[in-house]
Amino acid sequence: MRILVLHGPNLNLLGTREPDIYGRQTLDDINMRLRELAAKENTELCIVQSNHEGALIDELHTAREAHFDGVLINPGALTHYSYALRDAIAAVGLPTVEVHLSNVHKREKFRRRSVLAAVCIGQVIGFGWRSYTLGLKGLIAYLTDVTPA
Ligand code: DQA
Repeated sequence: MRILVLHGPNLNLLGTREPDIYGRQTLDDINMRLRELAAKENTELCIVQSNHEGALIDELHTAREAHFDGVLINPGALTHYSYALRDAIAAVGLPTVEVHLSNVHKREKFRRRSVLAAVCIGQVIGFGWRSYTLGLKGLIAYLTDVTPA
């Protein structure tokens, strides 16, 4: 199984960025945990972080021809307003799981809305770095069910 992991804007700053909200794990720490889990699950990961909406969209556009089976994404603030990212997820049509470190529903009002949720198979929110590993587990389980052996 091949999974594309996308990290959106400002997530490269994890570790020092508002640690009370996002925790002290760096993006490299999180990626290492994802790689450990993926190895156990016989899954190949390609991990990309970008601060640019268009770069994330370009990654999605090539995801099918690159033979990815699914996408795990923390879109950062793009979650709340990027119709372009939403349309890219819908257009590509790969099963996609949205994850957030923080519980966005406990925070500012603008964070309560995800314009991507309706084109994702599910969301994992509020478990800190574990949102990523839980999201990856959920995506692998989903893909295992829908993909004939
Ligand atoms: C976030 C939540 C977003 O509202 C915020 O803009 C982020 C991180 C999270 O993981 O909790 O950049 O996606």
